Amino acid sequence: MNMRTRLAVLISGRGSNMAALAHAARAGDYPAEVALVVSNRPDAAGLARARELGLHAVVVDHRGYASREAFDAAVEAALLNARIELVCHAGFMRIQSAEFASRWLGRQLNIHPSLLPSFKGLQPQRQAIEAGVRISGCTVHFVTPELDAGPIVAQAAVPVDAGDTPQTLAARILAAEHRLYPGAVRLVASGHARLVEGRVALAGVVNRADFLYAPEL
Ligand code: GRF
Repeated sequence: MNMRTRLAVLISGRGSNMAALAHAARAGDYPAEVALVVSNRPDAAGLARARELGLHAVVVDHRGYASREAFDAAVEAALLNARIELVCHAGFMRIQSAEFASRWLGRQLNIHPSLLPSFKGLQPQRQAIEAGVRISGCTVHFVTPELDAGPIVAQAAVPVDAGDTPQTLAARILAAEHRLYPGAVRLVASGHARLVEGRVALAGVVNRADFLYAPEL
């Protein structure tokens, strides 16, 4: 019997976090499998990457739908068809309707390249540099109707160097994302992290590295 949580990964671009999740899921003891990849963009580089990894990948092109709700319904049909239990946003650049987000509350995660609640929205690495912070990082959180504001599951910290550009900082954060997201999904898929009354409850024996990660300085 297959007891692994069936994941969908939603992408719009490169798909490196999707690949990190797929690699993690190859381990026999990982509690989840990538059962579906959905891209809203037919030209996303991550689609080819997903297929190279042997994953089932589909396109739901938002331009083919008259409303946000109609697009969300098409995504949801793909999720239900693949019997998806947990949805991971990974560079997915569409805002979902509040109805969809509410229906999947507790069953959707997102990764954002800042230490939330700082630097929500677009270009968080540039925002971090302009704010002059010495530490930034990435956050995995449950998806709620409010953008980048859901309860936090896991965070990783990385230093911001004096000479950083948004690109160099993004690369340093991305390396941390690839460690953090599989750990956070492990926690949620195994039931050790759950959304309870608007907060993330961690329970049972958990490895701190799954929800807290900082590189050597
Ligand atoms: C990542 O930095 C992620 O945190 C942000 O978008 C980027 C996606 O990169 N939401 P990739 O497509 O996973 O390579």
